[in-house]
Order: sequence, then structure tokens, then C-alpha cells
Amino acid sequence: MAVILDGKAVSERRLELLREAIDESGLSPRLATVLVGDDPASALYVRMKHQACERVHIGSINVTLPADATTARVVETVRRLNADPEINGILVQLPLPAGVDEEAVIEAVSPAKDVDGFHPCNLGRLFSGRPRYTPCTPAGIMTLLAEYGIDLAGRRAVVVGRSIDVGRPIAALLLNADATVTICHSRTKDLASVTREADIVVAAVGKPRFITAEMIGEGAVVVDVGTNRVEGRLLGDVDFDSVRERAAAITPVPGGVGPMTIATLMENTFAAARRQACGPAP
Ligand code: GUN
Repeated sequence: MAVILDGKAVSERRLELLREAIDESGLSPRLATVLVGDDPASALYVRMKHQACERVHIGSINVTLPADATTARVVETVRRLNADPEINGILVQLPLPAGVDEEAVIEAVSPAKDVDGFHPCNLGRLFSGRPRYTPCTPAGIMTLLAEYGIDLAGRRAVVVGRSIDVGRPIAALLLNADATVTICHSRTKDLASVTREADIVVAAVGKPRFITAEMIGEGAVVVDVGTNRVEGRLLGDVDFDSVRERAAAITPVPGGVGPMTIATLMENTFAAARRQACGPAP
């Protein structure tokens, strides 16, 4: 039976340590969030981020724009926050409404304040092996694996999903940690034959209970990034009950990766405040 990788407990500990570090730093980090439209799930995530800010003594503001805001208006909001010396980190909650050009908005965020790590500059740095701001979910997964002493060097990691917020950056992080990495996606042939060979499987597909026990090798570490809402319940991408019988370790949903994402956002925001206080990074 698998060890449960308790992201909730690890994130609580890290938030406590972060609050102490922020209090001792003499800095007053500040995060700005931008929420466009009235999607209830996005509004909930933004609220959770502001609650975490309060806990660790990071100041926060939120700018809400209507669902019919133009790309130009969202970009203009982001530029104003870029220019505001009181703001250290900027997070535009995704997904944006269909009419807004998401790529243009992501690229409008100053790379120095991009605590989400989605700007091509920051993704490029990550892929070149010299990360600055790393997307919060993948970075949180790496922290969780490290906290449980899970060794990655030389191990076979299979990432299922190729999004810019999870699949691609977690592949880069695993590669930077000397794992042998395979990225699978919707066009991969015979997915199960690939995932069965993996020492570590990261599931970021967005389909409830998609990864079943037959797809997992005995003793693998399974990381579930799924947050699928089904009839009011939150379900992961992994069929937890069957997979936990085969795996050596597994993240639950909820209480696994999710809390690590928020803790990492707080850490990235403090890192941004420290860098900005020290002048431009080398
Ligand atoms: N929507 C879902 N996950 C994320 C995330 O990590 N950052 C942002 N900005 N929006 C998201």
C-alpha cells in the first residue's frame, strides 16, 4: 500500500517557515492578482491565494475586470501593475474568457514580477537549466518529492500532459534533476505501455480517474495533478483506490499537489520581493 504524499501537511509547515522568514526580512512583499470575469472556480482560487497571503504576511490586492473586458484592457491593467513599485508579483488567473488573448496577456507581465512563471522568458530559463520563476504547481511537486526524500537522478519519469502550466515545466524540472523524462499526450500511442515502465508518473491530463492501476508499475511514485469537478466532488486524474495498491507513493486529491501550488506562489512572491530589493538580477 502506497505512502500518501501529504501536500497539505508539507505546505502548512512551509507556510509557517515562510512567515517567519518574511517577518525577519524587514520586507513587505505584495502580490497583485487579476481576475477577469465571474467564473466561480477562478474566484475561489483567487480568494484562497489572498488568504494564504494574509497568513504569511504578504500584502495583496485584486483587480477584477468584467467578463467582456478586451485584451487591450487586461494588458493595460497588467502594465499598470508592472510599473507600480509597491507590487512585487503579478498573477493573472487563468483561464481568461474566450475573447481575451491569453498569450498576449501572459507576455505583458514583466518577467521580473511573473510569479506564475508562465512568461516565455521564465519558461525559457527553466528549459535552459537556469530557472528564475518556475510555475507554481510543478515547483510545488518537486518540493513535495524532495520533502519525502524521493530520489530522481537516473530514474524514469513519465509526464502525461503537455500544458505550459504543468506538463512542460514539470518535465523540465525533472530533467534538471537528472531524471530520464518522457512526455506523453493525447496523441501518444499505447500510453499504458509507456507509463508502466515509469518510476515516477505525473498525471496532468484533466480527465477524472484516467490513470488506472494497469497503467502503473509496481512501486512507482504517482503524482496526481488533476482537479476535476464531478457532481460537486473534486476528483484527480488518477484512480486513487486501485493505484494506491500498486504504487509506492501517491498524492491524494484533494490535499496533495493543490496546497503545494499555493505555498509555492507565496515563496515565489517573497523571492520576487527580495530580488527587487537587491536591484536587478545578474
Ligand atoms: N489557473 C489554474 N491554475 C493556475 C495557476 O497556477 N496560475 C494561474 N494564474 N491561473 C491558474
